[in-house]
Amino acid sequence: MRILAIETSCDETAVSIVEATETSGVISFTVLGNALVSQTDIHKEFGGVFPMMAKREHAKALVPMLLKALKEARLYEPEYCDISQSVGEIEKLLEREDSLSKSLLDLISNTKKPAFDLIAVTAGPGLEPALWVGINFAKALGRVWGLPVMPINHMEGHVISSLIAGGSIAEVAFPALALLISGGHTELVLMKDWLSYELIGATRDDAVGEAFDKVARMMGLAYPGGPKISKLASSAREKNLSIPFTLPRPMLHADSCDFSFSGLKTAVLYALGDHKDLTDETKEMFAQEFEDAVTEVLVKKTSKALEQTGARTLIIGGGVSANQHIREEFRKKMENEFPGVAFFVPDRELSTDNAVMIAAAAYIRARAGVTYREDFIASGQLSLGK
Ligand code: KG4
Ligand code: ZN
Repeated sequence: MRILAIETSCDETAVSIVEATETSGVISFTVLGNALVSQTDIHKEFGGVFPMMAKREHAKALVPMLLKALKEARLYEPEYCDISQSVGEIEKLLEREDSLSKSLLDLISNTKKPAFDLIAVTAGPGLEPALWVGINFAKALGRVWGLPVMPINHMEGHVISSLIAGGSIAEVAFPALALLISGGHTELVLMKDWLSYELIGATRDDAVGEAFDKVARMMGLAYPGGPKISKLASSAREKNLSIPFTLPRPMLHADSCDFSFSGLKTAVLYALGDHKDLTDETKEMFAQEFEDAVTEVLVKKTSKALEQTGARTLIIGGGVSANQHIREEFRKKMENEFPGVAFFVPDRELSTDNAVMIAAAAYIRARAGVTYREDFIASGQLSLGK
């Protein structure tokens, strides 16, 4: 099955063309074309993602990304000139309209259908104005090409992308526990089977990625702060710096599987207050202590959830799962205390937002025969489990 997938939920515009096949229970994904452009440079100066600006950038980038993915997949044909000549007009329509307009359909009506079976698009969660751009574009292409358009939950994309090892998904032992850590979410979700989700813990305030980004900002580091904090922390560890302060580990000993990170963020704010001129070394110390605090909480709560649920698989997904220290600490924990539990983290390039994960999730849904409505809308708050 050949899938065109579109992702515009936050600040990455991504288009992928993925071929999914299945032999003897092994599902394989071949990425034929993969185009992604990040808006981080644009949002940098504001310290976060501005929905209206994100919307405009997605509208600008979608056609070029589609053409790039088609070229990479060697599916580009001269007939696509129609669409490439209308980039500016399509951009205006995608930016302006929150529903599928006839003018958009007219503009792309002569665009030749590539050899696709399905279009998949992120329907939520995320920034609604940004989601709408991808949804309208996907629906317009679906209408013109006569293809089904499947709505995909972004978080499900993160779950499935973690299971892809070397391009394939082998057997998964259920129940599986998923720890989802991204810029907007921090959740522990129990999967009793494919596509069945039960929320067993979540953050009560900030998401982990959000805490990384906010703490980075307090230290004068540009958005997105996660990778920068991670770099400073690893440099602190290399130097073996001894840290003269400790930060709280919120809810570490609480009985529930919920998280809270806003207190940790505030603690950093107060602690930084005593360090007016931050030297590089002070920044490194704060980064390490912050990363340690977050990691300890994530590992502890996840272990608790593993014990409570008797899960046979642990899946970690979402942008923060790119963090080297978090990966390493989980690997050690699993090896030492949960040797019988299968452990999955996504390949680095599939950790942060991308459209391959949207295509992969769509395939898992399609093979399960899940039905869906084609008149779906953008759902900013879409959730996986109840
Ligand atoms: O999943 P994602 O790409 O977008 C959302 O769905 O939110 O996650 C983005 C988040 C940002 O907060 C970013 O700072 C964080 O993931 N992130 C990291 C690292 N790489 C990305 N956080 C910690 N360490 C990293 N290496
Ligand atoms: Zn994400």
